[in-house]
Amino acid sequence: MGISILTVCYLVGSITFIIGLKMLSSPVSARKGNLIAAAGMSVAIAGTIFLYKDDNGEPLHNYGWIFSGLLIGAIIGTIVARKVKMTAMPEMVSLFNGMGGACAALISIIEFGHAIDHLKSSTGIEVIQTSYQNDFRIFLLICCAGLIIGSVSFAGSMIAWAKLNGKIRDFAFKGQHLFNIFLLLVILGLASYLIGSLPAGGKMIFYLIFVLSLLYGILFVMPIGGADMPVVISLLNSFTGIAAACGGFLYNNMVMLTGGILVGAAGTLLTILMCKAMNRSLKNVLIGSFGAKTPATQAGHPAGTYKEISVSDAAMVMSYAHKVMIVPGYGLAVAQAQHACHDLEKLLENKGVDVKYAIHPVAGRMPGHMNVLLAEADVSYDKLLEMEQANEEFPGIDVVLILGANDVVNPAAKNDPSSPIYGMPILEVELAKTVIVNKRSMKPGYAGIENALFFQPKTSMLFGDAKKVLQDLIAEIKSL
Ligand code: TAP
Repeated sequence: MGISILTVCYLVGSITFIIGLKMLSSPVSARKGNLIAAAGMSVAIAGTIFLYKDDNGEPLHNYGWIFSGLLIGAIIGTIVARKVKMTAMPEMVSLFNGMGGACAALISIIEFGHAIDHLKSSTGIEVIQTSYQNDFRIFLLICCAGLIIGSVSFAGSMIAWAKLNGKIRDFAFKGQHLFNIFLLLVILGLASYLIGSLPAGGKMIFYLIFVLSLLYGILFVMPIGGADMPVVISLLNSFTGIAAACGGFLYNNMVMLTGGILVGAAGTLLTILMCKAMNRSLKNVLIGSFGAKTPATQAGHPAGTYKEISVSDAAMVMSYAHKVMIVPGYGLAVAQAQHACHDLEKLLENKGVDVKYAIHPVAGRMPGHMNVLLAEADVSYDKLLEMEQANEEFPGIDVVLILGANDVVNPAAKNDPSSPIYGMPILEVELAKTVIVNKRSMKPGYAGIENALFFQPKTSMLFGDAKKVLQDLIAEIKSL
């Protein structure tokens, strides 16, 4: 009876994961989708804790450990998630993803230990009966896959986390990519030897694979430009999903298997989508040097002349426009200016100006960054235009107000084949009549490259922190 209720719990969990994922694809339903999936996960966890029985019909017994772990994890998770700033979200995802990878690797280590104990051999795995060999090989294959992928994901995610919060810098030595390939081959070679030959001293080989996989995870992420971390995190996220699915195989646990496969698939799709939106191949992200800034661009020396606009002139131009398109970017998130932005939108709308937002798919630093940010300020979803839609509307727009966006409006993506962002689809803001760009300086954005848009005759620079500038604009428009 217990098992059948448990099966229903797992089914409920699996279905809610799928529904939740589907709902996450729209900002309107995303919050609800997240809650539904979390509720399903709670049902699956509670079912496992209270209804699971092993082959001998024994329930779980170490409740003290289980509930202590749950309590500590829940407290830390809640505090961290509540405190995290929107701009630090990729960091948090990376940290949590790393924990998932570590769990998957630990499952493999513990289950490997159990299997060896079960075989009553302290010296290795050479005593396996021939009749068990094939089953044991399959077990070992999954165990090694979970160990390798989980360890790489854990170590890589920790490096990504440390890079994003500035604790460590990019690091690479000469020939590192070749060394990484060599290391990966050694890991796979050892795993194949362990599975194929079931040698004496197999325990040592297993732990060596673990250590080398951790090293590989570190060396794999170390040289990748800090700016490419969101793509790497998404890739590592898919690794964690696959490693968790291996755990599902080991425990013959369907909800873990389904959850792992869904995370693996979603992470892979997201990685592909991000690469496509930046018009870069995954190989280029992993071994390219995009995002590395040259000293000149880092120092913010502009390569041309630009004109500035005052807050009062900008307020005037926008107040008397028919149509204004706001282009939010990473800087808006940094400044936490979403509420001020919504206030400006309402003010202009009250004056009869039609205000919309143009959302580039990779504006900001994580998928859906701008949608989440603007939703936080209650900006209506029907005001948000996707890139293709916005590009059709730009010719009829009087004023484009760019708030802390840079790469996503850089025309080099269209006209400069030598540019690292060449081919990336962009918001074609220069089709509008006037462009006002708000940022703090002439420094480049994520890609570390100059933006010719800033030097065009129809562009005016409105320097300052996005929140402060928006507040000043609001005050100015009110006084008009
Ligand atoms: P960026 O190109 O990074 O430019 C952001 C600009 O905001 C900077 O030039 C910066 O200039 C300005 N800024 C920073 N703080 C500000 C503040 N407090 N007030 C006003 N301005 C501020 O941003 P974007 O246009 O949103 O492009 C996103 C980039 O990230 C793309 O290259 C994209 O490929 C990449 N990326 C995105 C994702 C996802 S999924 N979203 C993932 C990986 C990579 P100042 O320093 O002069 O102020």
